[in-house]
Amino acid sequence: MCGIVAYIGHREAYPIILKGLKRLEYRGYDSAGVALLNNGMKVYKKQGKVADLEETLIGKDLHSNIGIGHTRWATHGEPCDRNAHPHTSKNGKLSMIHNGIIENYAQIKGELIKKGYTFQSDTDTEVLLKFIEDIYVNNEGSLEEAVRIALKRVVGAYVIVLLDEDNPDTLIAARKGSPLVIGIGKGEHFLASDASPIIEYTKEVVYVNDYEVAIIRPDELILKNLGNEKITPFITKLDMELAAIEKGGYDHFMLKEIFEQPHTIFDCLRGRLDASAGTITMSGIQQYAEQLMTANRIIMIACGTSWHAGLVAEYIFEELTRIPVEVEYASEFRYRNPVINKGDVIIAISQSGETADTLVAIESAKEKGAIILGVVNVVGSSIARTSHGGAYTHAGPEIGVASTKAFTAQLAVLTMMALKLGYMKGCISEKRYMHLLNELNDVPEKVATALLQKDAIHEIALKYKDASDALYLGRGYNFPVALEGALKLKEISYIHAEGYPAAEMKHGPIALVDDKLPVFFVATKDSFHEKVLSNMQEIKARKGKVIAVVSEGDDAANALVDDLIVVPYADELIAPIINVIPMQLLAYYIGVAKGLDVDKPRNLAKSVTVE
Ligand code: F6R
Repeated sequence: MCGIVAYIGHREAYPIILKGLKRLEYRGYDSAGVALLNNGMKVYKKQGKVADLEETLIGKDLHSNIGIGHTRWATHGEPCDRNAHPHTSKNGKLSMIHNGIIENYAQIKGELIKKGYTFQSDTDTEVLLKFIEDIYVNNEGSLEEAVRIALKRVVGAYVIVLLDEDNPDTLIAARKGSPLVIGIGKGEHFLASDASPIIEYTKEVVYVNDYEVAIIRPDELILKNLGNEKITPFITKLDMELAAIEKGGYDHFMLKEIFEQPHTIFDCLRGRLDASAGTITMSGIQQYAEQLMTANRIIMIACGTSWHAGLVAEYIFEELTRIPVEVEYASEFRYRNPVINKGDVIIAISQSGETADTLVAIESAKEKGAIILGVVNVVGSSIARTSHGGAYTHAGPEIGVASTKAFTAQLAVLTMMALKLGYMKGCISEKRYMHLLNELNDVPEKVATALLQKDAIHEIALKYKDASDALYLGRGYNFPVALEGALKLKEISYIHAEGYPAAEMKHGPIALVDDKLPVFFVATKDSFHEKVLSNMQEIKARKGKVIAVVSEGDDAANALVDDLIVVPYADELIAPIINVIPMQLLAYYIGVAKGLDVDKPRNLAKSVTVE
């Protein structure tokens, strides 16, 4: 949700900021802007994507060795030039970019209006900037001090970076709740919402913590808390390659990420699952083995696609460990005063590790004494750092806004956790344990085989691309896969889609069925197969179009379907990781066929850092 980039050093700032903003565009793309010091403060901003900003700046003198840039996902105020960042202070000497939400901005704005301030935008950011300016101008202290005083009053989440015309060799940044990474170069510093704009310049980074203020000069990085005490920056080495954030010959990041899955799932299992030795090793979980063994309840907290991974995991954990599991939308969990008992374990699932709802939900559960285990993709992210323990999904940077490879990696991690726990608790036999271990081990190869269906799926996509609605049905482990299929279609193609348990369809959604409605069944061979076939009959009888994902070698559905997608058979516990592949490809090809920007669907942003 909004991407920020800043640079200070000996190089030209603009090209670094521009490239960085393009890499962060997955975080929001309503408008973009930069501020540079070039004979005074120069601010350029434009509604639309970063490329639109770039076009308007062709031919301008953009020389500067210091600058800040922003790509926006609108919260306060519609997407337009006026509301784009950076915002400028009343005296024109300060510029600021912001990612987050200032919840008490209206109150502060009222106070500033009384003092004679006027506002050019509808944003909370401009209010915070003018609040800082007011303190800075009246206190006659440093900008850094004004920032600290202002932030003590602020309620909400923020990363801010300020550029000051009177201090052309210093950037001031601060964070609470939204991510900020500072790359350390030789005589230069790079600031960004994640490491992707930084990795080609330096691998040494500092992840700024909540309530820290950074004073950044070319040769110096000072970190302080809001009480003006110095904090020693903790330097981390980035474990990421440039190739991981480039398209690598694919038309879109989404397609690249779908096709990366045999490797990303393999990377996720590597070093953890040893099928021949019959072992699963997860060091970040191991230290909480006792709490998991004795847990009265496991609560999965997540949003969106990660929530769907939690739903699959609920079925797997209950089956293998006999521990009751609840799956909660983080946004609901946080606000409904949930009962958290001693002995409850919370598993927070998040690709970005920055989703504000999930972060806040686990913080409040932590305060109530729960053990928090994070299943997170982005290393060093806020949720990873807030959790007591957990496991990274190792899917690599996911840049396409629709989550694909992170989902399958989440399922791989959660399945390993459940398998290990079930075995340790003696809830499953040695034989079943070994069988599932081997099934999981075979997933990368089976996913590669499922991907070979791409041309058939492409054809099906072209056939149904003009549908106005779609239904996705599945039972048991495949029900969350149906939900995920419907979500992918909605976000990528803007076709209205519903995911439903196949049997529940009779209790309402069947009224939608007519001869135009495509109904996608996730109908691989499992213990509910016969029942799903009956549900297919029910759709067919009402002339709906049936498209089914079935297991290789199973022709029971052939007579009932309009279109068939065949995937390798896997044990029903493991099958969702494979069955979701056609769902992802279908949404992708339909989105592309409709001429849509599948990597940046409208109104969305990858990392939802506002509640
Ligand atoms: C859907 C999608 C979103 C995210 C959700 C949670 O394709 O990407 O629904 O899954 O915003 O994000 P994370 O997993 O980063 O917490």
